[in-house]
Amino acid sequence: MRFTVAIDGPAAAGKGTIARAVAEHFGFAHLDTGLLYRAVGAKTMVGVEPIEAARTLTAEDLARDDLRSAAVAQAASWVAVIGEVRAALLDFQHAFAARMGGAVLDGRDIGTVICPDAEVKMFVTASDDVRARRRFEELSGKGADVTLDGVLQDLRERDARDRERSAAPLVAADDAVRIDTSDMTIAHAVEAVIAEIEKIRGKV
Ligand code: DC
Repeated sequence: MRFTVAIDGPAAAGKGTIARAVAEHFGFAHLDTGLLYRAVGAKTMVGVEPIEAARTLTAEDLARDDLRSAAVAQAASWVAVIGEVRAALLDFQHAFAARMGGAVLDGRDIGTVICPDAEVKMFVTASDDVRARRRFEELSGKGADVTLDGVLQDLRERDARDRERSAAPLVAADDAVRIDTSDMTIAHAVEAVIAEIEKIRGKV
């Protein structure tokens, strides 16, 4: 059975956590597509040209343990503007989405560009302040030297770049179900998405 769940939204809205939990609940495979762009961004930080970095991405590049840093996130957002970088990552994402047994992909352009025919499309948002607080707690919990203000600025800068680029900008698909997680616990948001998927699964 093929069944694709596309989960898009801005940084730190909770989509990664939701996608992981949903995949686990249904026994689907999960791909955090942001990790692809982070791995490309990380390679450019050591001097590799972005398009070359995307075309030569390996499993080891994706397993680096520094991909969650704020510096790598910014580099990811910069390389994500380049159409050829995005094109180089298409086949991998398409193949992942088409695997048997179901797949959840989270990112910025899954419902609009990568999987426009996904059975389920969600667009997950939260207020800037809530997102900054969540990301601040995540990063400082890992011992990173960050401030709440710095994290907020970083998120806003990245969102603006992700929204304003011409190649596959961050935008909700017309047929996406929107969830604002500002006043929800992540557990509640996970429940809401699972309920949405159950509803659609019953029809396919
Ligand atoms: O989801 P994330 O924060 O790990 O993503 C890092 C950056 O990668 C994000 O700022 C924009 C880019 N990205 C993208 O352009 N398209 C995707 N599908 C996923 C991420």
